[in-house]
Formats: sequence, structure tokens, C-alpha cells
Amino acid sequence: MTTHHPPRHRILALSGSLRRDSHNRRLLEAAIRHAPGNLQITLYDDLADVPIFNEDREAAQLRQGGVRRLREAVVNADGLLIATPEYNQSMPGVLKNAIDWLSRPGPDDPLTGKPAAIMGASTGRWGTRLAQAALRQTLAATESLVMPAPMLFVRDAEQAFDNAGELRDPAMRESLHELLLAFSLWIERAGTTAVRSMSNPHANSSFARLASNQ
Ligand code: FNR
Repeated sequence: MTTHHPPRHRILALSGSLRRDSHNRRLLEAAIRHAPGNLQITLYDDLADVPIFNEDREAAQLRQGGVRRLREAVVNADGLLIATPEYNQSMPGVLKNAIDWLSRPGPDDPLTGKPAAIMGASTGRWGTRLAQAALRQTLAATESLVMPAPMLFVRDAEQAFDNAGELRDPAMRESLHELLLAFSLWIERAGTTAVRSMSNPHANSSFARLASNQ
């Protein structure tokens, strides 16, 4: 008798905050602990090694060091899980800078057609609504496949986690779990029907080219 194992998806988790005690890192660590069995989530810890984008130095930096490591990690992942803080009603520069590097053409094309799920924690009352909207817009420009829903906004982040790093509110914990379950379905659909039906091979886009080569 053969046993059927559902596919395991490798997820790269990116925090938009480099802070050691970051609430967004905590949120991703909670996601790792409570991930459904078919998601293997790994936290990317080296965003601080990604230099500030400067087109004059792009060719030299694209294929080495922190940029190369980040691009390879994204290429090798089946999906991205991003937790962003909100800085001045948008995403932090660290995250935007990383996405700018990932969006550049190179030997690989890390973001085109890449499934992504976003969430965020902030100490403010709106829980990263504007940061997530900005992130969604930027990822659309890169032709990533951003899951539209469910969304997760962790507000008042200083009170949101207990000492063990768990979300205190059971409804919030449930929402995180639902987001992860939905993301595994999103990845499966992105790999099959979504890629074929959403793409227009005549459109002038990297995503359309990727889809038509399948
Ligand atoms: C913030 N913070 C913040 N919060 C918010 O809800 N809306 C905002 O516009 C801003 N703006 C802002 C700007 C800057 C420069 C900083 C440093 C902070 C608060 C921020 O969301 C809070 O510090 C989060 O806890 C940061 O995320 P981590 O580091 O805990 O993951």
C-alpha cells in the first residue's frame, strides 16, 4: 500500500524589522511554531547584509554577498511570508530596499510569479494597514502573486504577545492559523490554475513569459 504525502512547501519568512526584539519577528516565529504540516517556514535572518540599492553599483553587487544570498533564498522558496512593521504609514526602507534588489533582472527572476502572503504588527492602533497596502502595491509591480486574503493586522503589538512569544488573543492566533492554511492552498493554486488562467502570453510582462514557457 502506498501512502500519500501532501506536498511540502518551503516558505521563506522575511521580517521588515531588523530589531532584535521585533514584534514582526515574533509574529513570524509564532507562524513557524504553528505552521500546518505541509508548510516548512524558515526565517531569513540576513536582511541587514543587503546594501542600500545604488544603480551605479548594481552589476557588482547583484551576484555577490548579501544580495546574492537573498536572491538565492527567494528563488529556492515556494513562497514568501512577509511580516512588516509600519514606519510613517508605509513599509520600512529595509523591506522596500530588499524588494527593489529582488525585482532586478539577473541570472534568475526571484519575484515573478512567486506566491506571497503578508501580515504585520505595529504598536499603533491600525496594525500596519497602510504598510501592508504599500507592500501589496510594490509586490504587484514585481509580478509576485500576493494572496488577497485573509489579512492579519496585529495592533498594539506591545500587549499582543505573552512572554513565550505567543499571541495572547485566541482569535488572533486562529487568524494566523487561517492565513497559513489559506497560503498553502494559494501556493498550490499558483503552481497550477492561477499561473495558466491569470497569464496572458501576449502581455509584455515577465510573468506572462514565465507562464507561457511552462
Ligand atoms: C513607527 N511606528 C509606527 N507605527 C504605526 O502604526 N504607524 C506608523 O506610521 C509608525 N511610524 C513609525 C516610524 C518609525 C521611524 C518607527 C521607528 C516606528 C511604530 C512601529 O510600528 C513599532 O515600533 C513597531 O513595533 C516596529 O516593528 P518591530 O520592530 O517591533 O517589528
